[in-house]
Amino acid sequence: MSDLKYISEAEILRQRGYIESIRELLTEKQAKTGLPAFAYTKTFGCQQNENDTERINGMLSEMGFVFTDTPSAADFILFNTCAVRDHAEQKVYGTVGSLAPLKKEKPDTVIALCGCMMQQSAVSDEIRKKYRHVDLLFGPHALYRFPENFYNVLTQKGRIFDNAPSDGNIAEGIPVLRSDKTRAWVSIMSGCNNFCTYCIVPHVRGRERSRSPELVLKEVQSLIKQGYKEITLLGQNVNSYCNDLDVDYDFSDLLREIDQMEGDFTVRFMTSHPKDASEKLIRTIAACPHVSRHIHLPFQSGSNRILKLMNRKYTREDYLNLISLAKKEIPGVVFTSDVIVGFPTETEEDFQDTMSLIREVGFDGLFTFIYSPRNGTPAATMDGQIPDDVKGDRYRRLSALQSELSAQANQKLVGQVVTVLVTGQNEKDPSLCNGRTDENKLVHFPGNFQAGTKVNVRIDRALNWGMYGTLAD
Ligand code: SAH
Ligand code: SF4
Ligand code: F3S
Repeated sequence: MSDLKYISEAEILRQRGYIESIRELLTEKQAKTGLPAFAYTKTFGCQQNENDTERINGMLSEMGFVFTDTPSAADFILFNTCAVRDHAEQKVYGTVGSLAPLKKEKPDTVIALCGCMMQQSAVSDEIRKKYRHVDLLFGPHALYRFPENFYNVLTQKGRIFDNAPSDGNIAEGIPVLRSDKTRAWVSIMSGCNNFCTYCIVPHVRGRERSRSPELVLKEVQSLIKQGYKEITLLGQNVNSYCNDLDVDYDFSDLLREIDQMEGDFTVRFMTSHPKDASEKLIRTIAACPHVSRHIHLPFQSGSNRILKLMNRKYTREDYLNLISLAKKEIPGVVFTSDVIVGFPTETEEDFQDTMSLIREVGFDGLFTFIYSPRNGTPAATMDGQIPDDVKGDRYRRLSALQSELSAQANQKLVGQVVTVLVTGQNEKDPSLCNGRTDENKLVHFPGNFQAGTKVNVRIDRALNWGMYGTLAD
């Protein structure tokens, strides 16, 4: 942890100074044109990236930007990118490439790229050479320096690339503009120390570092006071929260303290690593009414040989024991998971071990990924890479099995009345409301309620992705 930095208050204040300076520049511009400055931001990737975009949006908002959904109307365009699979990266290259004509037409538009993909030097070299219309590029470690970098782009008219390798930092006090009024993300830690052999995250997000419990509790308390109904605690491996701090405190302690706060709210968390999910955690979930009975617990593979090659540090048996304990201790618990098919050397027998684990646990939902080799990770150069057609075939068979199991799990709720948190009106059919059960299952039902309202819904019909119901009261 050589260069792990806690960003000082003085530095955050200095960055706030740049926010003010940009605000002045924009005010001058507005006085001339009569129009505010518009920003367009888009996120690729996980909830942690969504939360980072909310922080960038917070800074943009303080600079005086107004948000638009149309890139061509924007003075500032930003993509927050993900590096976890090749598909995610190709989408970014495609989208950025398509902005070249816009930049030609409106050369004053500032185009920025940030996030995990930009932390890789091979990517920034490519952007530097072939995507000359990109003005600003920064990695996750430079997020707090966004105001300074942006100011320099605006005033010096040069390109800025800020993605030097780093173990990471913790920056508190950056403004946040949340995208939802009902559900909020709270990052409790960043980075990862696990180095699963397929995964790029530790290489781009740096080492594991926990925010102080005091600051996390303060943020959660303030969100509950503001009326947020659902708070999701985020980290790549929340079960190792505080392992890097010199305190006698862990993730279960955090859950207990949050649970004791007054209010009508649910706490969720992701992601739990099975190697660190403890008996204490399971007993805590069971004992805390505010904590959701939904556990997202990625298993990645059902084969012990593959788990070892993945460096996951648990066996199939460890995983199944944990699930049995949770099922016993937490009435009504539901599980979701991540799984990878086509990891190097995976045989049909290994794949069948994955299929049988899925049947044994009975997940309510599963995120299935086709293995994607990532530059710089050990698995990318392992012998025995699996051909695309074999990966595709396994993916289809696994998805079909999970569709069947998800439909069965949802079917069990038909006829029951469940409490649903309204998340908004349905976009396709505005006569319907969208909501989520405590287990995070999607429910559509006729009605018109404000997001954040809790209603009781009788489930009438179940499908593999969710359910339809009608108001019960
Ligand atoms: N920290 C979380 C997951 C972060 S990445 C955890 O450990 O569970 C989200 C998911 O992407 C992973 O769980 C894994 O299933 C998938 N993933 C990561 N790297 C991948 C790769 N190279 N190819 C395919 N899927 C990958
Ligand atoms: Fe990646 Fe493994 Fe860390 Fe999750 S625990 S982010 S899969 S290295
Ligand atoms: Fe998230 Fe993708 Fe980065 S999954 S941590 S945005 S590589």
